[in-house]
Amino acid sequence: MNILFVAAELAPHAKVGGLADVMAALPQALAKAGHGVSLVVPLHRGLRRSGEFRQTEREIEVPGVGEGRRARIWEGERGGVSLFALERDDYFDRAQLYGEGGVDYPDSLERFSFLARGAVELARYVEPTPEIIQVNDWHVGLVPAYVKALGLPIRTVCTVHNLGYQGEFPAEDFRRVGLPEGVFRPEGVEFYGKMNFLKGAIAIADAVTTVSPSYAREIQAEERGHGLHEVLREHGGKLNGILNGIDMVEWNPATDGALKKNFKVGSMAGRVECRAALEKEMGIEPANGRPIFGMVTRLTREKGVDLVWAGAEELARRGGRLVVLGAGDPALEEEGKRLAQLHPKRVAVRLGYDEGLARRIFAGADFFLMPSRSEPCGLTQMYAMRYGAIPVVGNVGGLRDTVEEWDGKTKKGTGFLFVPTAEGLTGGLDRALAIWDEPAMMKAARRNGMSKDWSWGAAVPSYEKVYRSLTS
Ligand code: ADP
Ligand code: GLC
Repeated sequence: MNILFVAAELAPHAKVGGLADVMAALPQALAKAGHGVSLVVPLHRGLRRSGEFRQTEREIEVPGVGEGRRARIWEGERGGVSLFALERDDYFDRAQLYGEGGVDYPDSLERFSFLARGAVELARYVEPTPEIIQVNDWHVGLVPAYVKALGLPIRTVCTVHNLGYQGEFPAEDFRRVGLPEGVFRPEGVEFYGKMNFLKGAIAIADAVTTVSPSYAREIQAEERGHGLHEVLREHGGKLNGILNGIDMVEWNPATDGALKKNFKVGSMAGRVECRAALEKEMGIEPANGRPIFGMVTRLTREKGVDLVWAGAEELARRGGRLVVLGAGDPALEEEGKRLAQLHPKRVAVRLGYDEGLARRIFAGADFFLMPSRSEPCGLTQMYAMRYGAIPVVGNVGGLRDTVEEWDGKTKKGTGFLFVPTAEGLTGGLDRALAIWDEPAMMKAARRNGMSKDWSWGAAVPSYEKVYRSLTS
């Protein structure tokens, strides 16, 4: 089968979150299974500088909004996947992917309708013609509408990585995206009088997938439906939850060059060094006999960061250490800075994006905190388990599907799940602190997590089933 992926992120050089990691891994897993796979992304500054793409002679005309709608095509190749990037510097040669200082760039509509329309234009020239276009998240949510409007013989799959971001714009903007009038309807991109990119994709795509089975269920109910639960229920027949994997080669503590020492199950001495190195790097007092809790996250309410801030003093009082790496909401950044200043020996907060440090936190922390209120899949809890940090997580979405509650009797399980509220978090921390006092149990829970296989190969047959249902 020939599949074209379209997305706004690609790890490692154009990454904000897990979407980038998935785009760097799932297409390759499908290529490895024998499919013809390509991927279209914007030529973000980081991708231009990466040297992975080369400029070609080819330019495409991108009908729709804005002046001089042309894009130069850059090409690359990675693990059997053909990579295409659309060069349009006034849109994509920027310091960040989406915005700065917690505010989106004001021309998101132009930037992303350009990406979507450009990807569809490119699909007409890619050889062989894709049978499937898989669009990821709201940024490229107009792709299915463009494909249908042009009458192209291509089936579309909309993959929802996070329903919390939908791409909503005023109705007046509709005329700027170059779609026929009829698409601004309840069956199309219209939603309560506005244009909603993600809703349009869900309504128009031939199939919808999301990144864990639990999230697929949750989003059909009001509590976690972000306003789209009824739309999702209506289209429930074409909705599938397929659990993400991780790249087991890219994320491997036995070979990871960012770590002070490597380690693996059965040979864990290196992890003790990584832990000591982490204390030093974060500038906290050696934890001598007390556990280190780590977090690597976008700083948003959805991730439950405020719950951790509220519980940080108590955790420090009980002798725990807290090391956090994150960036995002300016108010949450401020509060994190304040807590770290208040408890410099026990709480350390690094603001910013630092992949090396992220890896060293997975490798050096005893526990990994992720009290998400909502979590489509979550990759960091899987990285944490692979690197030997025991996850303490909200019992939602993909966290439920990847973390198994530790059971001291059977010695089964990989972590701790709790209701993502302040009391729930306290309960989760209690259980973590209790197991900490039983080294044999710690060791068993850690080993269980490190021994899990999170390869993407497991997801491939599920995606193939979706593609087959659309093409046969
Ligand atoms: P989400 O996509 O919702 O942010 P995921 O767990 O799926 O959550 O993926 C987050 C990805 O981003 C992981 O690869 C994680 O290591 C990375 N990440 C998040 N914040 C940072 C940061 N401040 N520095 C480095 N990496 C980060
Ligand atoms: C989103 C979700 C996250 C998921 C990632 C990759 O950013 O928030 O839970 O793991 O996409 O699918």
